[in-house]
Amino acid sequence: MRLDRFLCDMQLGTRSQVKESIRKGLVSVNGILARDPDMKLDEQKDIVSYMGRMITYQTLFYYMLHKPAGVVTATRDRRERTVMDLMNGACGKGLAPVGRLDKDTEGLLLITNDGELAHRLLAPGKHVEKTYYVECRGVLTVDKISILEKGVDIGDGERTLPARVRRISQSDSSYVMELTITEGRFHQVKRMVQAIGGSVTYLKRLSMGTLSLDTALPKGSYRPLTEIEISDLVQSPK
Ligand code: URA
Repeated sequence: MRLDRFLCDMQLGTRSQVKESIRKGLVSVNGILARDPDMKLDEQKDIVSYMGRMITYQTLFYYMLHKPAGVVTATRDRRERTVMDLMNGACGKGLAPVGRLDKDTEGLLLITNDGELAHRLLAPGKHVEKTYYVECRGVLTVDKISILEKGVDIGDGERTLPARVRRISQSDSSYVMELTITEGRFHQVKRMVQAIGGSVTYLKRLSMGTLSLDTALPKGSYRPLTEIEISDLVQSPK
């Protein structure tokens, strides 16, 4: 692999930026200052340093995206803007969103090319918790909370699995709650709210498994996961 490609793959800049870094003497290979961006290296064996920091080659990439409303959760779409259109500059071949949020839903979306992790987080039998902030029309009575918590018929023959509800506020005709579910059925949250006689007016995913939306991450932006976030996700029960 060429040195400039290695550095680009490791998110250290665009092709021209990494060439500039090499020219400025910021990069060394096996302890020797690198001068040639075309230099060939063995990404598994050679030790590359950038500004004195050792860079380990990786092929799996993990990002959190703060999905805004108005984009579809797909890798590609003929007509609509997709979440992947917001990932410009992210590196990693085969990046894809893990699970789906509706076009009008906002919040946490994990984007990765780690297919094994994606499969594990989405597998129905794994019951990975997803917590949503939900604004609704209607009245959330104690009885309705209990229905959501026990499991509710959303029209496809099988009740939802038990959920957790935290009521945040209630006004005359609207309420806000946090809802934690362990499945990923189509429009599940909206259908659960409908099943208790309300309707969702705003929906945002706050967390998935061990991963929580970074409150400092602006809507429409993404950032790489930290090492701790990655290891918590990867090590979470298999
Ligand atoms: N449930 C929904 O109804 N919509 C989403 O986008 C996610 C969960």
